[in-house]
Amino acid sequence: MKIKAFDKKIYLSSPTMHGDEAKYMMEAYETNWMSTVGKNIDEIERQFAELIGVKYAVALGCGTAALHLATKLAGEKLYGRPEPGKGTLFGHKVFATDMTFDASVNPVAYEDGEAIFIDTEYDTWNLDPEALQKAVEMYPDVHLLVMVHLYGTPGKVAQIRKICDEHQILIIEDAAESLGARYKLDGEWRETGSLGDYNCISFNGNKIITGSTGGMFLSNSKEDADKVRKWSTQSRENAPWYQHVELGYNYRMSNVIAGVVRGQIPYLNEHLSQKKAIYERYCDGFKDLPVHMNPFDPVNSEPNFWLSCLIINEEAMCRQIRDDYKAIYDPEPGKSCPTQILETLAEYNAEGRPIWKPMHAQPIYRKNRFITVNGDGRNQDGILDVGMDIFHRGLCLPSDNKMTPDQQDQIIEIVKSCFI
Ligand SMILES: Cc1ncc(COP(=O)(O)O)c(C=O)c1O
Repeated sequence: MKIKAFDKKIYLSSPTMHGDEAKYMMEAYETNWMSTVGKNIDEIERQFAELIGVKYAVALGCGTAALHLATKLAGEKLYGRPEPGKGTLFGHKVFATDMTFDASVNPVAYEDGEAIFIDTEYDTWNLDPEALQKAVEMYPDVHLLVMVHLYGTPGKVAQIRKICDEHQILIIEDAAESLGARYKLDGEWRETGSLGDYNCISFNGNKIITGSTGGMFLSNSKEDADKVRKWSTQSRENAPWYQHVELGYNYRMSNVIAGVVRGQIPYLNEHLSQKKAIYERYCDGFKDLPVHMNPFDPVNSEPNFWLSCLIINEEAMCRQIRDDYKAIYDPEPGKSCPTQILETLAEYNAEGRPIWKPMHAQPIYRKNRFITVNGDGRNQDGILDVGMDIFHRGLCLPSDNKMTPDQQDQIIEIVKSCFI
């Protein structure tokens, strides 16, 4: 197959509109509900509570806002309301997924807590329950965990839950990337976004369905949902004037954005099957290459296949060096590396992305503790650091649901050409 550059860029994962979105946005406009209240918000909260299988959903400006308020709720529940000027996690440590987008864990810092990063496992590329077990032995006073389902692949929820239940640890579930993914817990299929004590999803422009932005807090607790609703609208008390007892935020979703989300909901299943088809086509296309696709547990989970990723077998990696800002590599026959593949895709006008660089390796979190299956992951030479290994050898492939099979076949050929 002769490969030529794509005329129109192939994206990693871009928004896909269908028409209903404009109808609901216009409805907000024509009825003058250009506000943070309105029918679109009511509707998506009702529909998502039903879809995810929780009692309450609160629509917010973004997934990060949902995570922040979830973190604050957990902090208040564990440690009470803080004194003015201090976050709810002041003086406390929190276990957190290491290989993720920083939005998962920044709210711990917003609330003045200290994240302890837990290493990743190879089976699903999520938080490793074995490393978590080590961490609870080392830090028995920690009572909160932030858990993520990376790239739409559910983590080892049953094992993680068991450890957390045994040690009275509350779970914040970051399902920002995994809307539509399911996990079998205690023999029952459950949607991600319903598996933690506090649950969050995102409608960011690159997610499986989008509002252009937006997020949601999901819960079975009316008290928690009411608290999030109140905090997200500046914490007004029930008084004839603006009365404030608690710190507030302007985090509520706009009724216009909610219109976009509302118009996308009927297309969630279509997007899910498109993403799955893309993943399967890559699996087939790469079967003769020294690579593996991002793995999942086919018995206990059903990913949403938001991003298709690959990892290069160790022996097929050419030399690649990354510092904090740049990467270089030495091309070698029969071998490749993520930098070469990403640069080659870009030459052909296609967008890939590196794996999330682990949080413990980020300058902002370099002083935070990092726990692996072998214990303390800092200051030990030669320690197994799974997250950095996946970051080093892995990459996210173009996973746009508008990519045609022919275009995907070209992407596959481009990747193959890197191993010649
Ligand atoms: C794992 C993860 N957590 C949190 C977020 C934050 O969501 P938002 O962009 O809606 O604030 C994102 C993506 O954006 C994400 O990928």
